[in-house]
Amino acid sequence: MDYSTREVVECGSATIINCLPEIGHETAVEEIIDGLTSQPKRISSKFFYDKKGSGLFEKITALEEYYPSRTEKAILQSLPLCAITDCSDVDIVELGSGDHSKITLLLEKVPAASLPGVRYFPVDISRPALEASIKELTCMFPGLAVQGIVADYIHQMHLVPGDRKKLYCFLGSTVGNLDREEAMAFVHDISETMNPGDGFLIGFDRIKEVRILETAYNDAQGLTAQFNRNILNVVNGLIESDFNPEDFGHRAFYDRECQRIEMHLEAMTDVCVKTPFTQEDILISKGERIHTENSHKFDEEDIRMIAGNAGLVVKNIFSDEREWFSLVQYGKC
Ligand code: AVJ
Repeated sequence: MDYSTREVVECGSATIINCLPEIGHETAVEEIIDGLTSQPKRISSKFFYDKKGSGLFEKITALEEYYPSRTEKAILQSLPLCAITDCSDVDIVELGSGDHSKITLLLEKVPAASLPGVRYFPVDISRPALEASIKELTCMFPGLAVQGIVADYIHQMHLVPGDRKKLYCFLGSTVGNLDREEAMAFVHDISETMNPGDGFLIGFDRIKEVRILETAYNDAQGLTAQFNRNILNVVNGLIESDFNPEDFGHRAFYDRECQRIEMHLEAMTDVCVKTPFTQEDILISKGERIHTENSHKFDEEDIRMIAGNAGLVVKNIFSDEREWFSLVQYGKC
């Protein structure tokens, strides 16, 4: 992850601006050290997404066990775009865009004549993921204006220009990675920047049978385990530490009380980690866990509460037949 070089790069007909330096390498280091010296230990899930992590996540989305991506895409595909926006002169801002497979399903619905009036702003913490997706998108939609933003969107929403009609997209149930209060605050922040007529499309993974949830995060191939362990490689890069990911086991389980899947890395042996950013080594005893991700699951009441708290109205809830996933359209009244 590139916290140091602020730059604008040309990417075909598009540009990408790296805004991570605004946050700074020191802040990332501080956040990681703080988590690793807390009790219980934790690492923020945003650090999953270096090049390798983004690639692993893409592979996860294709797994039979991981139902959210394919379910959300089926809903996106059947969505009438006119139900979301009239798509003339609109800025589409996608938060945590990852690959372009989700937004493509929306852009394909835009009539060719309207495309020149659409601008697309993908915002993601992973620059390689952003570059790859923008390259492909500009080929697929030559008329589309694209401006990529490498940023930690939770803290950097001011980077998005504010002068035109907006459609915010927060897909993939990434909202589930935030704590309840963080999710509330984030949707509220977005709402503050919205004008009447603007839209906000959010993907919510729904509460369902525990077996299905737990299987989605414990795939037979072990890709989720690899993805989980890879966060230690990212951490090694940022705090110059010497974690050996193979010292840790993958744990993922559903917590009914908190309505969330939790992912942890459990030390299989006593581990001693060196980093120049702490005076003493970081000791992790056998059996101790590092909490790496929460993935909250939502019911309709949650979906309505998040809207209400942010001063938004629920315009539509689009779900698959089994109600495993919902794409929710919030509006500003
Ligand atoms: C798409 C980021 C929300 O929490 O389900 C997939 C990430 N973690 N498998 C999720 C993830 C483990 C995913 N998000």
